[in-house]
This record gives sequence, structure tokens and C-alpha cells, in this order.
Amino acid sequence: MTTKTLHVVGARPNFMKAAAVHHALAFRDCEQILVHTGQHYDALMSDVFFATLGLPKPDESLDVGSGSHAQQTAAIMSRFEPVVLARKPDIVLVYGDVNSTVAATLVCSKLGIRVGHVEAGLRSFDRSMPEEINRLLTDQIADILFTPSTDAADNLAREGIAGDKVHFVGNVMIDTLIQFLPLAEEVFLALRTELGLESFGLVTLHRPSNVDGEHTFLPMLEVLEELSCELPLIFPVHPRTCHRWSERLSRCNPNLRIIAPLGYLECLALEKYARVVITDSGGMQEETTYLGTPCLTLRENTERPITLTLGTNKLVGRDWRLLRERFHESLANDRKPRSPIPLWDGKASERIAEIVTTSKVER
Ligand code: UD1
Repeated sequence: MTTKTLHVVGARPNFMKAAAVHHALAFRDCEQILVHTGQHYDALMSDVFFATLGLPKPDESLDVGSGSHAQQTAAIMSRFEPVVLARKPDIVLVYGDVNSTVAATLVCSKLGIRVGHVEAGLRSFDRSMPEEINRLLTDQIADILFTPSTDAADNLAREGIAGDKVHFVGNVMIDTLIQFLPLAEEVFLALRTELGLESFGLVTLHRPSNVDGEHTFLPMLEVLEELSCELPLIFPVHPRTCHRWSERLSRCNPNLRIIAPLGYLECLALEKYARVVITDSGGMQEETTYLGTPCLTLRENTERPITLTLGTNKLVGRDWRLLRERFHESLANDRKPRSPIPLWDGKASERIAEIVTTSKVER
């Protein structure tokens, strides 16, 4: 008998992680159910990823949409509970650190349904980040914790989580990157012509701490406009940033190219060929590390310290002097070959599939 696995996805960074595990379980002929909470719902934030990544149409769409954290989390919980009761999975897999992750885990935990958390154990130690709260709570109540890097097990042990629940499997997002990089390279040829740029940088910003307040976002934008005079910067704008700042963004220096959110292949292609990436995204810190592209992170901390120690990532916080300095360093230096990161080898999802289909964890 195969393990009936239900995946919960909700927001953009979940899709590339779930895709890798879904493919690995499909290869083992597992019965799978895909639930989309609808946390992200715009075509550019959701549908394009399903199409590109070969994820099937969701079996269930909860259509929760946007709202305050409490509203969104509560809506996911109340709409997910009847679904999981009706579908009776053997295990539910949740991904990353978004509101859908913690909401689904809480529901399953109370119903006595096994939960596996993919990308467990990452910590920024910054509880002002909503994602940090989601990580802490999810890991406390999930049954199987799949960790992407060696630091994660230490964090979980420090929080009193039993070691036998923890499985170091590697990074599933890198599985997807490895699978799709050849296609992204093809896409880049057309994209480069479309953009008309030989040399460029890539910028993404969506954290509330960076984009919600004018005293942070406006000076940040001015520095980016200044840097874009030295190297054109492509800035695909997240809906959160766009809704808040559309008028100001429409007046940007044209060297800072404001464009709509990118599809997965386009984003990967630009990350690979950018001279430098400036971001506040967790996933892009990892992807640039794998690709060997210099990454400057506009945050004071990261839940992915391995990207600092073994990768190409540098934290610049909101120190504009440091940002300018690091930016110039990135342009001046040749790309260095990256250090290999343990188990970022394209096989993390196979390891998860093996554990999901063979383990019988008692709750
Ligand atoms: C969410 C995650 C964050 C993740 C990010 C990736 C949480 C707490 N946050 O943040 O961890 O890094 O996704 O993108 O789970 N909106 C749209 N269309 C959409 C989705 C959102 O217009 O498809 C707008 C809405 O105005 C919404 C705002 O963007 O209020 C923010 O969306 P939300 O899902 O609340 O948070 P993100 O900032 O996307």
C-alpha cells in the first residue's frame, strides 16, 4: 500500500519546493493530493509556477486570499480542516515558513494527522519577522522535520525537539533549480534580447520591514536609483510593493527597470546572469549561492547562515554606505567558484520520498 500524501501550498516560494517532492513521490506511484490555500492568487504569483513546474492543477483550492495575519491564518485553518478530514491522508507535507505552513500544521496536529515539514529548523532569531513565528511553531508540532542544511539540526535540538524526528535531507529548492536550469538558460537568450542588456543587476524586495514604511523604502529606492546609473538594475515588483508604491515607482530613474513579477525560469535566468543580486528574499539567497552570483541582502539577519559562510551572500541591512561598498566590490571582482554545500545535490526530494514512503512515525 502506498502512502497517501497531501501537500499544502499557498504562496510563491512553496511551489518550487513542493514541485520537487511531488515529482519524487509520483515516481514512486504514491497517491497524492495537492491543496492550494490561495494565499497567493494572482496569475503571476501562482498559476505561472504551476504551469512551468509541471505541478498538476490543485485538487482543492481554499481561495483564502489576502488579509491580516490572523484573518489569513484563521481562514486557512477553517477551510483546510474539512478537506483534510474528507481526504484522510497518511501524511501532510507543509513547506517553508508562510502562513499556510503553520495554519495547516496546527489543524493536522489537533486531528492526529502526521505532518512533515520541508525546510525545517531554519532560524533568523528575529521574532519581529512573521515567518520566524511560523517556523518556530511549525517545528514544535510537526512530526517529521526535513532539514536543508546542517545548522538546522542544532536549532531544533536547542528548542528541545527530539533528534529522531529530524532528517537532514538537503535543499529541495535546489533540486528544482538543477532540474530547470537548462530551460532557464534557453529562456535567457530571448530575455536578454527583450531587455536589451548585456550587463545588469537584479533587485527584489517584498519584506514588510523593507517595503511598508516610507522612512525605509524611499531612501532604499533612492540608493538603488543611484546604483542603477553604474549598472542597470532590473526590479520585478512584488504586489505588496507595487500596491503601496505604484506612483513613486512610476517616477523611477529608467536605469532601474520596474517590471511585473517574473516567472520561475525568467527569474532563475536573471539570477544566474546578473552581475549582482540585491534582495530580501530567503530563497534567492540560496539560489544565488548555488549559482555563484554575488548576493547583497537588505536584512539585518538571515535564517540561512550557510549562504554567508559557504555561499555568495552578504548582509548589508540598511547601511547604504556598506551597500555601495559591497556593490562596487561585486562589480570589481570575478565570480569565484562556490564551495559545495552538503546535500544541495538535486536529490533532497528523493530522500524525502524515501522517508515518507517507508517511515511509520508514531504520534
Ligand atoms: C508571503 C509570505 C512570505 C513570503 C512571500 C513570498 C507570510 C507571512 N508571508 O508574503 O514569507 O516570502 O509571501 O512572496 O506567509 N497580493 C496580491 N496578489 C497575490 C498575493 C498578494 O496582490 O497573489 C498582495 C496583497 O495586497 C497582499 C500583499 O500582496 O496583502 C501581501 O501578500 P501576503 O501573502 O500577505 O504576503 P507576502 O508579502 O506575499
